[in-house]
Amino acid sequence: MDISLIQAQVESEIQNLNSLEALEALRVKYLGRKGLVTELTGKIATLPQGERAGFGQQVNALKSKVLSLLEEKRPTLGGQSSKAQIRPCDIGMPGIAHELGHLHILTQVTEEICAIFNRMGFSVVEGPEVETEFNNFTGLNIPLDHPSRDAFDTFYLKSPLDKLGAGKSKEKLLLRSHTSPVQIRVMSSRKPPFAVVVPGRVYRPDAVDASHSFMFNQIEGFMVDKGIRFSDLKGVLEEFAKAVFGNDIKMRFRPHFFPFTEPSAEVDISCIICAGHRSQGDQQKRCSVCGGKGWLEILGSGMIHPNVFKNVGIDPKKYTGFAFGMGVERIAMLKYGINDIRLFFENDLRFLKQF
Ligand code: PHE
Repeated sequence: MDISLIQAQVESEIQNLNSLEALEALRVKYLGRKGLVTELTGKIATLPQGERAGFGQQVNALKSKVLSLLEEKRPTLGGQSSKAQIRPCDIGMPGIAHELGHLHILTQVTEEICAIFNRMGFSVVEGPEVETEFNNFTGLNIPLDHPSRDAFDTFYLKSPLDKLGAGKSKEKLLLRSHTSPVQIRVMSSRKPPFAVVVPGRVYRPDAVDASHSFMFNQIEGFMVDKGIRFSDLKGVLEEFAKAVFGNDIKMRFRPHFFPFTEPSAEVDISCIICAGHRSQGDQQKRCSVCGGKGWLEILGSGMIHPNVFKNVGIDPKKYTGFAFGMGVERIAMLKYGINDIRLFFENDLRFLKQF
């Protein structure tokens, strides 16, 4: 069959079409598996060598002509041109850059603090957030009926054994209310000397507000050896406070009570905002960070109580030691001037990206 005749035939047939279905039928008639053009393509191989190239070219030209006729006609029948379906790719368009994240502010501050103590020879140890009543209280010289336990209000857990009706399990489990139970874990499993810092989450059933959260982070530290004195505690904490808040800050130790240390002290640093200079004068002009006191409480500390040593099998006549515990959120809030603890946990990137 004459190729130019076929082309003329397609042209006239396509002109009279008035539906997409008819257009599809025409496509099948010529380009389908058994279509005329396909058939002609199949013929190429059967021709004598000399004629193949010429005939092949004609068939190919016909095929592209039919394709372009179909392509032109399709939009006039309300169909989409297949070209329009291919999205143009603009290789000059800027790509979508994946943002690189960074460590959470609390992780950064925790790492910074641990690194400071690392330089002074402390190693980092972690403990579980689910603790025994013994490690959280009794071992730390906090008797069950002692009112000081109120200060460490606690989430108790139902033991799986209770649920199974397997009788009361020996040890009540709880979410640790401070990192001090890791003192018990380390002291009962290692021989002094040791110096350890313990970062980790703690839990207390507090109503959430600008300065309270039911979960927060602490860093515990303790050192035990022969002849450790209160002055060692002072030296270590001063080194720490200056590394975090700068060499100009002053420190003071205020007598306090903790059942697991004796003597105990709370440690304040001079206010990093007013340095104590705005402590006088009327209410209005008082420093909003220290409330005019000139001092900011940063941690609790003391010499490890002899009873605690006895509870873990260390001889208090041979060994002494100090311990301290601080809130990471509090340190971060003071260092960066953050006024609401909830900001750490809300995952608002506008806040987190600043650090
Ligand atoms: N565990 C105490 C608290 O959570 C802090 C502390 C630790 C005090 C070690 C003294 C020694 O408040």
